[in-house]
Amino acid sequence: MPLQGGSTGGRHFLQIPGPTSVPDRVLRAMDFPTIDHRGPEFAKLGKDVLEAVKAPFGTANPVVIYPGSGTGAWEAALVNTLSPGDRVLCFETGHFATLWQEMARKLSLEVEFVPGDWRHGVPPEAVEERLSADTAHEIKALMVVHNETSTGVTSRIGAIREAIDAAGHPALFLVDTISSLGSVDYRHDEWQVDVTVSGSQKGLMLPPGISFNAVSDKALEASRTARLPRSYWDWQPILAANANGFWPYTPATNILYGLREALTMLHEEGLQNVYARHQRHAEATRAAVRGWGLEVLALDEREFSPVLTAVLLSDEYDADEVRRVILENYDMSLGAGLTKLAGKVFRIGHLGHFNDLTLAGTLAGVQMGLQRSGVKIDPNGIQAALEVLSQ
Ligand SMILES: Cc1ncc(COP(=O)(O)O)c(C=O)c1O
Repeated sequence: MPLQGGSTGGRHFLQIPGPTSVPDRVLRAMDFPTIDHRGPEFAKLGKDVLEAVKAPFGTANPVVIYPGSGTGAWEAALVNTLSPGDRVLCFETGHFATLWQEMARKLSLEVEFVPGDWRHGVPPEAVEERLSADTAHEIKALMVVHNETSTGVTSRIGAIREAIDAAGHPALFLVDTISSLGSVDYRHDEWQVDVTVSGSQKGLMLPPGISFNAVSDKALEASRTARLPRSYWDWQPILAANANGFWPYTPATNILYGLREALTMLHEEGLQNVYARHQRHAEATRAAVRGWGLEVLALDEREFSPVLTAVLLSDEYDADEVRRVILENYDMSLGAGLTKLAGKVFRIGHLGHFNDLTLAGTLAGVQMGLQRSGVKIDPNGIQAALEVLSQ
C-alpha cells in the first residue's frame, strides 16, 4: 500500500508549508533510548539546546521550550503577559492571524481586529496610526503573525517595530514565527519583540511536538503582574528548572535530541546562507508561477514569503482538485487553501530541508499536475524557474 499518493517508488514529496521533511541526520539523532529526564545526561542535553536555540531567534534572552504544538505556545504568550479584559490589537492577514485573535477572545481579552484582504501583511503605517490614537495606552499588546502560512505573505517586523516606536506606545509586541523561524531572517532582540512564538515542524526541520516562547525582559516583567490563569504554560517554574537543564514536567526528550542536531545543521550552513537559500527558492517558484501565466496571491513584493508560495487559480478551476490529481499521480502533497481561500489557492512549501533539485522536482510535479487537471498554463514556467536557479 502506498503511504500517501499513487506511487510506491521513491520518496513522497511533502511540499506543504509544514510539517516539513525531516532530514535523515535528524531522524538518526532521535533514534536513541529515551533517558531519565531528571538525570545528569539529560541536564547536559537540556543546557545545550536551551543555549543553541537562541541563535535562530536572534536573542540572548531565555527561550522557553514546551512539549506542545504552536497553538500552545500562542496561548503561553498571552496567558503569561496579559490580564482579563486587556485590549489587544491584531490585523486580519489570514487564517492564522484569525485563529490567534479568536484564542485571545476565548481567554477574555478585548480584541481589536483590523480587517484585511488576505493578500497583504500588517501595514506598519496602520499600526502607527492606531497606536498614536490610543493616547490612554489602553492597548496592552500587538499580536502579529510574521509569516502567514495561509497566504504566503511575510509581515515586516522591523518596520512594525519602527511604527510602534514612532507612536511612542508601550504595548507589548507578540510575534508568531511558527512558519518563519530558521528560514527567514529574524531578530527578537534587535526588533524588541517581547514574545516570539514558534514551533518545531517547519524551518527547524523537526517532527511536530515542541514549541517555543522567546521572552524579553519586558515580557518577564509583565508576567509578574499578569492575571490570566495559567499553570502548564507558566514561564516561571520552567525558567527556574531550565537553569539546571531540566523541566518541571516530562520534556519531549527525543525531539530535543533532534533539535540539537537540527540546530547544528543550521549552524554548519550558516543562518545567513539558510535565509538566502530560502529567498532564492521562493524567487524561482514565483518565476515558475508567473511563467505558467498564473497569479501569486501575495501582492506586495516587500512581503513575498521566502518559505511558501500561494498560487491563485481563476474561478473556473478547483485548487483542491489540482492537489488531488498531483497527490494521486505524482505522490506529492501541497498545501490546501484554508477557510476563505478554500478551493481557490494551493500552496507550495519550499522550506526547511530543501535544495535546488527538490524545488525542480516539486515544480515539475506542479506543472504536470496542472496540465493533467486541464488548467491552461504555459509550459515554460518550469524553465523560468530553472533559469533563476542557474544564475
Ligand atoms: C503561522 C502559524 N501559526 C500558528 C500555527 C499553529 O501551529 P500548530 O498547528 O503547531 O499548533 C501554524 C500552523 O501551521 C502556523 O503556520
